[in-house]
Amino acid sequence: KRLAILASGSGSNAEKIMEHFQNSSKGEIALVASNKSDAFVLERAKKFGVPTFTFSRKEMEAGVLLSKLQEEKIDWVILAGFLLKIPDELIRAFPNRMVNIHPALLPKYGGKGMYGMHVHEAVKAGGDTETGITIHLVNEHYDEGKIIFQAATSLSAEDTPETIAQKVHALEHRYFPEVIDSLLG
Ligand code: GRF
Repeated sequence: KRLAILASGSGSNAEKIMEHFQNSSKGEIALVASNKSDAFVLERAKKFGVPTFTFSRKEMEAGVLLSKLQEEKIDWVILAGFLLKIPDELIRAFPNRMVNIHPALLPKYGGKGMYGMHVHEAVKAGGDTETGITIHLVNEHYDEGKIIFQAATSLSAEDTPETIAQKVHALEHRYFPEVIDSLLG
């Protein structure tokens, strides 16, 4: 199976996924695409010899990203810290074949604006005693696709948004590659 990773930022999740599939017979990371030409994820892709592609929001909405994914015969699209809303046309082109990771236990702390440190600040403000990750299929409704996997970590009053982020990233790096692998059948 040929996988494309969409990311907008650092790409620590993308790194773990590329590492995992480096010598896999089940899947190949065929492309890393970003809407930010200076995203560090592009450097990480180059290190793994994975082709990269950058695009603007306008180009994505004009269908340029969909065309690229089709040209590259991509089977699965993995969102790993991708901050734009995916156009419905693109979602419909990959029915039950587009996966996202959200750094909280959906349906809690989901929806627009809940990304990056905002999520962890909200969890801290909410006084929650646990948080975690949600890996889900992407559909036309933000953060509401079928949940595939969740993992939780406990929090104490001493936790800060920064320590919460560290605990959540550890879960992401531990589980996201394996969950993707399990989806490839
Ligand atoms: C992760 O926290 C992920 O859950 C969220 O965006 C962040 C991406 O981090 N969707 P990175 O770019 O993979 O380091």
